[in-house]
Amino acid sequence: MLHIKDTDLPNIIELKNITQAYSGGDAPILQDLNFLIEDKPGQGQFVIILGASGCGKSTLLRYIAGLQEPTSGQVLLRDKPVKQSGIRAGMVFQQYSSMPWLTVLENVALGLDFQGVEEKERKRRAQEMIELVGLAGHENKYAVYPTLSGGQLQRVAIARSLIASPEILLMDEPFGALDINTRLQMQDMLEDVWLKFQPTIVFVTHDIEEAVYLGDDIYIMAANPGRFVHHVTVDLPFNRNLEVKHSAHFNELVREVEDKMISVSEMSRK
Ligand SMILES: Nc1ncnc2c1ncn2[C@@H]1O[C@H](COP(=O)(O)OP(=O)(O)OP(=O)(O)O)[C@@H](O)[C@H]1O
Ligand SMILES: [Mg+2]
Repeated sequence: MLHIKDTDLPNIIELKNITQAYSGGDAPILQDLNFLIEDKPGQGQFVIILGASGCGKSTLLRYIAGLQEPTSGQVLLRDKPVKQSGIRAGMVFQQYSSMPWLTVLENVALGLDFQGVEEKERKRRAQEMIELVGLAGHENKYAVYPTLSGGQLQRVAIARSLIASPEILLMDEPFGALDINTRLQMQDMLEDVWLKFQPTIVFVTHDIEEAVYLGDDIYIMAANPGRFVHHVTVDLPFNRNLEVKHSAHFNELVREVEDKMISVSEMSRK
């Protein structure tokens, strides 16, 4: 099992001794799971979670977002239970999650609803985010497929989750359903957005190249029960580009992660 060292840096996300059992399920899906993300001063973290389907990745994001509580164990944001922390994480779901009866502009502005920002200001900020994620010209379309393409709908979700400048941004396979070119474009867009806002991003993906391209730290989970077993530090330049992607070291890291994933899948087999 992976032990993550708790240094003097402040903790931003901490999961302690988590167990998740469901009635009807025979064995817990998560057991004695521990996880820690520290806050490096003046720098957002880009943390990747990799793991087989069903190992509990989405469940972990739901805990951090305050949408679900574990059967036992603690979920702390800046050392406080989620509800008491006052931190509201942004979330981009695995499936498109826009309101199809609202326009792009209305969907993005929705991200500010709970903050009591007045309408004019909400619209101004929504417009700014729409431009940032490359959706200018589409603001008055309904956020529904096929009026907007899959990639455009995911941009709407990203803009909505970012508009409130969340300290923590949770992304659950946000680019999983996109074609390869759109996916690559979205990765670069997210990289730009991250550099601009510097949130702590927890990003779930099944794509190892995407993990190495975007992440600073990659954590690998095993299943049955779900827990963290490996950590890979991505020691690539801060600002990623095609040159980095084509470097020998990038490919070494991809191979290292791939090897670890293979060893984990053998470990998880029942
Ligand atoms: N309400 C529930 N009742 C019973 N089992 C559940 C419930 N919610 C989730 N599970 C189970 O918990 C496990 C973890 O689900 P989760 O969605 O977190 O997996 P995941 O790692 O995100 O998988 P994927 O990569 O396919 O998205 C699965 O086996 C799922 O069937
Ligand atoms: Mg999932």
